[in-house]
Amino acid sequence: MSRRSSRISGFYKLSIEERLKIVSEFADLTSDEIGSLKRHGALDIEIANRMIENVISTYELPLGIAVNFLINGRDYLIPMVIEEPSVVAAASNAARMAREGGGVYTSSTGPYMIGQIQLVKVPQPAIARLEILKRKDEILELANQCDPVLVRLGGGAKDLEARILETRSGVMLIVHLIVDVRDAMGANAVNTMAETIAPRLASIAGGYFRLRIISNLADRRLVRAWTKIPVEAVGGREVAEGIMEAWAFAEADPYRAATHNKGIMNGVDAVVIATGNDWRAVEAGAHTYAARDGRYRPLSRWETDGSYLYGSLEMPIAVGIVGGATKTHPLAKISLKILGVKTSQELAEIIGAVGLVQNLAALRALAAEGIQAGHMSLHAKNIAVMAGAVGGEIDLVAEEMVREKAVRLDKAQEILSRIRKERKS
Ligand code: MEV
Repeated sequence: MSRRSSRISGFYKLSIEERLKIVSEFADLTSDEIGSLKRHGALDIEIANRMIENVISTYELPLGIAVNFLINGRDYLIPMVIEEPSVVAAASNAARMAREGGGVYTSSTGPYMIGQIQLVKVPQPAIARLEILKRKDEILELANQCDPVLVRLGGGAKDLEARILETRSGVMLIVHLIVDVRDAMGANAVNTMAETIAPRLASIAGGYFRLRIISNLADRRLVRAWTKIPVEAVGGREVAEGIMEAWAFAEADPYRAATHNKGIMNGVDAVVIATGNDWRAVEAGAHTYAARDGRYRPLSRWETDGSYLYGSLEMPIAVGIVGGATKTHPLAKISLKILGVKTSQELAEIIGAVGLVQNLAALRALAAEGIQAGHMSLHAKNIAVMAGAVGGEIDLVAEEMVREKAVRLDKAQEILSRIRKERKS
């Protein structure tokens, strides 16, 4: 009998087995489906159970390796976790092109994150702002007492800013605490500091504190990546011009800019996820940064002078190599080892470089043969499997569909039965 109420008290107190039983009954899962949920990969179920709440299983995605990356003169293999076909191949392909111009170069600001403290009902916000700024050293000291380890590593609260904000709920005083989070993503350190200094800020300002939380618009933690590629490497002058026009289209039109940036995030997110980092934070920061001047714009820029194609990108990338899943997920640890990164800044810069190269791959394909050609061969393999092809049949059916330019289930079934008939006769 299936249970249909989702009101389950104490679900979190149950064992994984008991939770699974409840979910199986709720959703009428078959024994095969329950078997799939019980089959775990590299992430041990007990580790998973400590990572989040109410765990019943682990969820796997493909982990691929993009090759050919030359970043700041150093070779990298790039672990990418993503469900979308063609992304890893496209990244590898475009990285090979970028290599011909010496690869991708990067730089970054320090790993500075912003903690926001919202002060409301402050009687004299302009005066309060100055009172707070006057006590900057004392407040930074208070914040730094939260995290002596971070301070010992050279990080910690470094600066304080205050803004008066007109809102629909009246005037607010918004204080920004700027924290050098070193190799962490930084949310924990920053949130703890923001919570610690909030009462002191409120007592100075004479109002009340409300929110005390990190800002995901990490515009003090920017990554810059650029490349200069001979036009021959991307398919010639015409293609390079097409790439520049594709960028100009995105620059002029938010509808296109969204898709342009999505292509960048294909590469960015895949590495962020592979390394156990918070991809929602990176996404939120990226898109807000893209709209920082009031209009949504592309995060990258592409130009050509007829001899070279010049690409550059600037975006916030808040990732860490210590803390959270980066240290608990075994595949995240291995991904970091494959990358061989030593600091969060190095990781962020690699991710920016991957974003730029992924963008090149998409724009080049769009400007030349179109995106579907590259997608088709993997897509065709999936369709072949759906049609029932197994083993060597998969490639045969897929190749035939691509040749006939008809990648559809009915076509796959037709080709499969033809192949099987021919084999019998
Ligand atoms: C598909 O995942 C990403 C692209 O749409 C990006 C783009 O259009 O630039 C190909």
